[in-house]
Amino acid sequence: MNDPFHHIQTATRLHLAEHGCGAYTFEDGPSLTTLSRSLRPDRVLELGTALGYTACCLAHGCSPAQVDTIDKDPLHLRLAARHLENAGLMDRVKLHLGSFDTVIDNLSPFYDMAFFDGFAPSPQTIERVRELLTPTGVLVCANLGLADLQSARKLTLDFNDPARWKSLPNIEAGQTLVLRKVTP
Ligand SMILES: C[S@@+](CC[C@H](N)C(=O)[O-])C[C@H]1O[C@@H](n2cnc3c(N)ncnc32)[C@H](O)[C@@H]1O
Repeated sequence: MNDPFHHIQTATRLHLAEHGCGAYTFEDGPSLTTLSRSLRPDRVLELGTALGYTACCLAHGCSPAQVDTIDKDPLHLRLAARHLENAGLMDRVKLHLGSFDTVIDNLSPFYDMAFFDGFAPSPQTIERVRELLTPTGVLVCANLGLADLQSARKLTLDFNDPARWKSLPNIEAGQTLVLRKVTP
């Protein structure tokens, strides 16, 4: 599929090679755009901005969705701002500087869609994200395979609990989970 933000993905790979900062870019932006287009969210939360590649994909998929995106690295956010500005999406994307858990505590509910793309998801962070989702909001969770054993077990149990989540088709060649929140 055509990816209008491929150049940002390339810039992120170059940045990673130069800085070794861990800003691994998401591999499947077009699927994220398609998901955002089909879910038609009003508000989207992203954890892990890096250079703005996936924030662009999410915002591009659904106008006039508002995207809140979080990253702890000020350089990443400066570069992301430039990419979002060039893509004409800056008015719909708010960049938040800080650690996920700190910033999340200051965000107001509710989000229709959330995308976790930090290094590895922790059960605590995912629980906070779940609380911020609408009763039928959708969580897209990358990098479960990077979590430590205990966190991975806990999250797998949680994600497989039908009283809490309903699985939707995965993206990024099956590597990234897509889950709809279930509210009893
Ligand atoms: C995998 S990269 C995100 C890639 C981006 N979504 C993309 O596709 O281009 C992870 C990003 O999350 C940020 N990050 C990791 N852990 C974090 C934390 N606990 N709080 C805030 N930012 C964090 C890193 O600085 C990095 O930019």
